[in-house]
Amino acid sequence: MSITVAIDGPAGAGKSTVAKAVAAALSYRLVDTGAIYRSVALLAQRQKMSLDDDKSLETIVRGLDIDFTMVDGVNRVFLRGEDVTDAIRTPEVSRDASLVSTRPSVRQGLLALQRRLAGHGGAVLEGRDIGTVVCPNAPVKIYLDADPGERARRRLEELRGKGKDVTHEAVLSDMVARDAQDMGREHAPLKAADDAIHLDSTALTPEEVLERIVAAVRQAGG
Ligand code: DC
Repeated sequence: MSITVAIDGPAGAGKSTVAKAVAAALSYRLVDTGAIYRSVALLAQRQKMSLDDDKSLETIVRGLDIDFTMVDGVNRVFLRGEDVTDAIRTPEVSRDASLVSTRPSVRQGLLALQRRLAGHGGAVLEGRDIGTVVCPNAPVKIYLDADPGERARRRLEELRGKGKDVTHEAVLSDMVARDAQDMGREHAPLKAADDAIHLDSTALTPEEVLERIVAAVRQAGG
């Protein structure tokens, strides 16, 4: 049986790495819902739109033409055929994605798209509200967390690996601000579902996190 696996948690907890590994291990589809919010933010930036302009944001959401394709182990994101994988990972897009994700109209508008991508099982979805809102019936829900300092260190490594000139302090303060916004927003805030399995990746390797999630999926019959 192919089931739905929901992985939620704050930025830098290792969700992307682990979700990708879980999807590969189970031959499940991978749905990076953060990339969807990031794509909305990117289009809003390009159109120089104010991020509280709900009408214009709704137009973007309605017309969103997004595709994911795994290329050489990278989950590439395409908007109307344009590869935006790198363009949606800048600190500016991160900040604006968190901002647009506070708008109820954006969240509501993206719900159907995310559920369509989830299908009827056989998918790993990663995000902030997958277990609580998007797929509340997912048989396996994971809440993946890690110490803020460790999360910032990982994000710093990732950004520096891409040649970005950033400091640990800047990454940490951006992350703390984004966490506060994601957890404090009124609509579908980041929180663990009541029946989620909590995993702390601070002291676990990605392989250990993967093992635990695959074991939970097996136990759930997936
Ligand atoms: O996972 P990420 O860092 O790529 O997500 C970018 C932003 O999108 C994040 O700050 C909050 C928002 N988001 C959300 O509100 N709900 C989701 N399911 C996924 C992401």
